[in-house]
Amino acid sequence: MDWSVTRADFPILDQKVHGQPLIYFDNAATTQKPRVVLDCLRSYYERDNANVHRGIHELSNRATTAFEAARARAARFLNARSADEIIFTRGTTEGINLVANAWGPKNLRAGDKILLTEMEHHSNIVPWQLLAARTGAELRFLPVTGDTGLLDLNHLDDYLTKEVKLFAMTHISNSLGTINPVIELCTRARKLGIPTLVDAAQSAGHRHLDVQEIGCDFLALSGHKMCGPTGIGVLYGRQEILEPMPPFQGGGEMILNVSFQKSTWKHAPHRFEAGTPDISGAVGLHAAMDYLDNLGRQKIAAHDQELGAYAYEKLARFKGDIRLFGPHIGRAGVVSFLLKDVHAHDVVTVADQRGVALRGGHHCNQPLMHKLGVESTARASFYFYNTTQEIDRFVGVLGEIQKFFGA
Ligand SMILES: Cc1ncc(COP(=O)(O)O)c(C=O)c1O
Repeated sequence: MDWSVTRADFPILDQKVHGQPLIYFDNAATTQKPRVVLDCLRSYYERDNANVHRGIHELSNRATTAFEAARARAARFLNARSADEIIFTRGTTEGINLVANAWGPKNLRAGDKILLTEMEHHSNIVPWQLLAARTGAELRFLPVTGDTGLLDLNHLDDYLTKEVKLFAMTHISNSLGTINPVIELCTRARKLGIPTLVDAAQSAGHRHLDVQEIGCDFLALSGHKMCGPTGIGVLYGRQEILEPMPPFQGGGEMILNVSFQKSTWKHAPHRFEAGTPDISGAVGLHAAMDYLDNLGRQKIAAHDQELGAYAYEKLARFKGDIRLFGPHIGRAGVVSFLLKDVHAHDVVTVADQRGVALRGGHHCNQPLMHKLGVESTARASFYFYNTTQEIDRFVGVLGEIQKFFGA
C-alpha cells in the first residue's frame, strides 16, 4: 500500500511551520482529519442541520436519520450486537465518567476493589478515585515492569481476586506504546465474574476492534483520535449491563415522562444521552469510520507497528545518551524518550522550530512517570499518513538538539 497517497487526503499536512514542512507527530493527542470528514461536516450544516428526535419536519428527520445511522455504523465498527449498545459521549473521558457515575454507585460497596493498571491515563484513574471516595471502594494497580513498559502478568492472579468488582485497563498506552493483551485480560476477569472496561482511546482508529471478541463489558473511545471531529466519542456497553443502569445526567431526550416530582427514563442508549447531542460530530465520526475501513484497519495497524519499530530502532542507535520507554518489540506507533540533560519541553520547543510537532510532559500519566522516576518525557506518535522519511528527519533534528544543548 502506498501510504504517501493518503497524505493528500489531509489538507492540514500540506503546510510549512516555521518555514519547514510540517511533520505532525502528535497523533496520540489528536489525529488530523481527512477531507471526506471535513466535507461531510460542511454538507451536514449546509443541508440537514436540525435538532434530533424532536421535530416532525424534514430537516429534523434527516438529522435524526443521520445521527442514528452513525450509531449503527459505530456498532458495526466495533462489532457490537446492536446499535442499542452504543452511547454517544464527548470522548473517552466522558465514557469512563459515565460508567463510574451510573454503574459505579449501584454496584460497589465499601471495601470492594477496582483494579486498574499503572499505565492508565488520568481519565481512567481520576473517575475511579472520585467513585472510591463516594463508595468506600479501593483502587488497586497492576504493576508495569519498568522502562520496558509491559504489564506484570505473572502476578495478575494476585491482583485479580474476587474482591475486585471492576477491571478497567487501557488497550494501548499513550506514553509507552504498549499494546495490552485485552482479550486475555478480559477472559481472565470474566472467568471470575468481574466486569471489564477497555480504554480504547489509542487503539480505536489504529487496529481492528471487536467488542465480542475482546469480551469486555464496556469500551470507550474518542472520535478525534481516529480522524473524526473533537467533541464526539463512543461508549460501548453490553446490553445486559446497560439496561439496569440508572441515568448519568438528567434533562431532555433521555426521558419517557416527566411530572413535577418524578420522571421515567428511556431505554439504553437514549437514557444516557441527556440534552442535544453532538449531531454533526456523530455524522463526522461516521465518515471517519468509513474512511478508516476503506483504508483497512489491519493495514493501518501493520503500518503503525512498522513506523513504531523503525523509530524505536533509530532512536536505540542514536549517537548520544537517550533513554527509551516502552517495549522493544510489538509496540504501537508511539515512542517516548528522554535525551540526557535536555528537558523534554526543550526538545519539543526546538523540534517545533524545525517544523516537527512532538509532545513533552507527563502525558496525563503522572503516577506512571513517578514510578519510572521522571517528571516528563518527549513523545513522537505516528499515524498512517506519516512516513519513515519524516522519522529520519526527526532523528536528525534530535541530533541538532543534542548538539545545541551540548549534551
Ligand atoms: C489512553 C488514553 N485514555 C484516555 C484519553 C482521554 O481521551 P479524551 O481526552 O479524548 O477524552 C487519552 C487521551 O490522550 C488517552 O491517550
